[in-house]
Amino acid sequence: MKADLAIIHASELITFDSTEGKEPLRGDTIKNIGIIEDGCLLLKDSKVLAYGKTEDYIKDLDAEETLDATGMVVTPGLIDAHTHPIFVKSRENEFIMRIGGATYMEIAKQGGGINSTVKSVREAPIEELVEAGRKHLNMMLSTGTTTIEAKSGYGLNVEDEIKQLEAIKILQDEHPIDIVPTFLGAHEIPLEFKNNKEEYVKLVISKMLPIVKEKGLARYCDIFCEEGVFELNYCRSILEEAKKLGFNIKMHADEFVSLGGSELGVELNATSVDHLLAVSQEAIDKLAESSTVAVLLPGTSFFLDVRKYAPARKLVDQGATIGLASDFNPGSSPTTNMILMLSLACIKMKLLPSEALAAATLNNAFAIGMADTFGSLTPGKFADIVIWDVDNYQKIPYYYGMNLINKVLKKGKIVVDNGKEN
Ligand code: NIG
Ligand code: FE
Repeated sequence: MKADLAIIHASELITFDSTEGKEPLRGDTIKNIGIIEDGCLLLKDSKVLAYGKTEDYIKDLDAEETLDATGMVVTPGLIDAHTHPIFVKSRENEFIMRIGGATYMEIAKQGGGINSTVKSVREAPIEELVEAGRKHLNMMLSTGTTTIEAKSGYGLNVEDEIKQLEAIKILQDEHPIDIVPTFLGAHEIPLEFKNNKEEYVKLVISKMLPIVKEKGLARYCDIFCEEGVFELNYCRSILEEAKKLGFNIKMHADEFVSLGGSELGVELNATSVDHLLAVSQEAIDKLAESSTVAVLLPGTSFFLDVRKYAPARKLVDQGATIGLASDFNPGSSPTTNMILMLSLACIKMKLLPSEALAAATLNNAFAIGMADTFGSLTPGKFADIVIWDVDNYQKIPYYYGMNLINKVLKKGKIVVDNGKEN
């Protein structure tokens, strides 16, 4: 077999290929992550060609290049299924207010929160948004993230939502990370509509959705379903219209107050419902019967210190599909680090390292509708790979807050190299 690159002698090659990459890992199968000791992975034309035991390939190996991964773990690239990477100003002032005891929702009600980022995004020319986004994407790549979902939602008017989505499009074309774009016009009620939520919802439905569709700028439509933001009736109107136009659906649901957002998501066949700290048992039952992925965002609970995490164990044990994401944004989760999310998933939500990694790779590919091409080391899928400087995968979340990445490959090309060979 003629390969461009052969990675040999991986102490553990984790393929996430037990379903041939065609089904997410859920219920009993979530632990079947496909571990091959002394593994070999062959790549060709930016894709995975084959894998197996090194001893089965080494004799007739015919590869342009060979990488020796002795003592290292090889996994698919991490996928971040929920990010807000297009913003220009950080919000450490709110961080300090929270240290003093204020809550996220209190700060938002005082005109801070999402609306303060909206102000700076509206003022910024698109070039500045692209530059900031590029920086954020580079940070993601350095911690092993090779594919993301990215949301608008800091424009909150026609022109500035489009500007954010166009910035995402520019980054799609120039950056190695693959980006799935999401329209989040219903992220917050902008200040000029403060006492007129209905009118803003009308604007989203009658103006924003059709233009975003016509310009082909987003695959998903998302909404912040929360008390005091967009309650269930508004979510239904916006998402039903989005579906009619051909968008797929995502929701910020059941983060602080349980309004029935996850139930609505399942009813509308949403690709994912995200957050779920306050998800009801009824919704968990529905998720377990559906293909909607429950995307868990433990960084948000950690950073806001709400002392409450999504019931990940229950969701897994009852058969729902879980994903895992950073929720990278300047207010509630200013980190791009998916490795830290793996640690938080284990420490705070009691997932096993195998379950957390399955969520952050194959299951996240399903959460963003990209499982045909990403998420597992299935022959024919893109060769997005992380080589970790640890000899078993359990050490990836165990060494928390650290970056033990040796190399990141995107579509077969080395894009990060922290190798210590010299
Ligand atoms: O994840 N869910 C609420 N929090 C927002 C954070 C955005 C912000 O504060 O800027 C979110 O969408
Ligand atoms: Fe979010």
